[in-house]
Amino acid sequence: MYEILLPAHNLLRWVFLAVALYTIFRALQGTRNQSPFGKDDNFAGAIFLATTHIQLLVGLILWFISNHVQTAIADMATSMHNPETRKLLIEHPLTMIIAVVIIQVGRIKSKKAYADLDKHKRCLWYYSIGLILVLSRIPWGAPMFRV
Ligand code: HEM
Repeated sequence: MYEILLPAHNLLRWVFLAVALYTIFRALQGTRNQSPFGKDDNFAGAIFLATTHIQLLVGLILWFISNHVQTAIADMATSMHNPETRKLLIEHPLTMIIAVVIIQVGRIKSKKAYADLDKHKRCLWYYSIGLILVLSRIPWGAPMFRV
């Protein structure tokens, strides 16, 4: 299963980034032009959230089955003093979970907003903060793609 999930998690990072940029770009345009929050904006938000949740699920499973993680857990004292293993064990998963929560809250708040401008603005802010968090903790040293 690991052989499938790791490349999937790797690839989904690009899907996540592409959908995030597209959705945030729409929110920015909507805010600037004060345009109606249409079906396409809602659809982009839904796809963004779905991608985020799938990545979260795959990441969670990986955390439990990865030999890298399990080896690091076996010697927590040493792992916590090593920036690489600390990132793998704690910083990457925790930051990503916080990002997912912020993106989810943004989607709910945007749906609850009455005015279309507020919908766009809430998407813009929450999704941008979520994206910045994700960007800060992606292991950029990992291969660009895995097959
Ligand atoms: C949007 C959210 C996330 C993105 C963009 C992301 C991205 C990545 C990337 C690019 C890698 C490197 C993959 C490789 O080595 O080919 C990775 C590794 C990993 N991620 Fe995530 N991740 C996210 C969320 C999560 C979450 C929520 C968890 C766990 C709760 C998680 C757990 C892991 C683990 C355990 C690894 C290393 C697996 C290993 O090397 O054996 N990720 N992640």
